[in-house]
Amino acid sequence: MQHFLKETDFKPHQVAEVFSLAHAFKKGRGRHTPPSLKGQTWAMIFSKSSTRTRVSFDVGIHELGGHPIFLNKNDIQLGRGESIYDTANVLSRFVHGLIVRTFDQREIEQLAELGSIPVINALTDFLHPCQIFTDAFSMAERWSDGTNFLESLRGRRIAYFGDTANNIANSWILGAAMFGMELALAGPEGYEPGEEIRNVLAQSGYAPTWSFTTDATVAAKDADVLYTDTWVSMGQEEESAERIAAMKPYSVTSDLMRLGKKGALFMHDLPAYKGMEVQEDVLYGPQSIIFDEAENRLHTQKAIMAVLAEANR
Ligand code: CP
Ligand code: NVA
Repeated sequence: MQHFLKETDFKPHQVAEVFSLAHAFKKGRGRHTPPSLKGQTWAMIFSKSSTRTRVSFDVGIHELGGHPIFLNKNDIQLGRGESIYDTANVLSRFVHGLIVRTFDQREIEQLAELGSIPVINALTDFLHPCQIFTDAFSMAERWSDGTNFLESLRGRRIAYFGDTANNIANSWILGAAMFGMELALAGPEGYEPGEEIRNVLAQSGYAPTWSFTTDATVAAKDADVLYTDTWVSMGQEEESAERIAAMKPYSVTSDLMRLGKKGALFMHDLPAYKGMEVQEDVLYGPQSIIFDEAENRLHTQKAIMAVLAEANR
């Protein structure tokens, strides 16, 4: 059984397939989508809030011919202490796949290990692989000729600002290595990428392509993309004041954007906090592709589900 718990769970040929399918699904939306999930029901178990991920998976499953069931963790017995073992076994008897958003990466690993259906990571505290595949597709859409998606990413430079130890930064560490991109992380001391992500990358066999600096201008220089994420991720609300104070120098401003390459893109996984990690003129400025990026969650995740359904057939 193949799962999608982290970027590197997909083989290079599957990543190429995700990009070309996402492109085809986007172009042909509403006309023809292969019914990869025909007759299937997929459950979405969410322990955290979501707008983009929840809606795009719900719509995506429907468009692939399947039926989605949304389950807030607290609505099912898992939220009252029923074991992951029992939950995984019971759900495996009913549904064909699970999409899970939770805190601990180990929880989705256990659901995958103990059940007998594919599991997709819809964000944990550690990783957000659906977002990073979508982001990379959104870049490739701009840089490729419509056929050479992966090639168009190779050698490009992403500068990422702010919380360089969160799920998005971690996932970009894996994604950049897979896509052959340079990742320049800029954030305050004490928020450098942790040991766990370094270990996961080392085990993947991909060579590291990231660097860390406390100087935002160093990271921004000649970047193809300037990327940021919230300074306070879900579950970190109690640390808000200290995080905001530490990350203030890493806000993406128009001055910082000017250090990137001409025509550099601004990207943000959203939700964004204007005046914090990004200034309003950049967020809605001409270099920003935030809403294409959000839309592409739908096309890319449909492609991820189609590839996974094929692999597990
Ligand atoms: N970017 C993202 O995952 O957004 P949601 O939290 O709204 O799903
Ligand atoms: N780092 C953010 C991403 C939200 C999509 C969080 O975990 O809250």
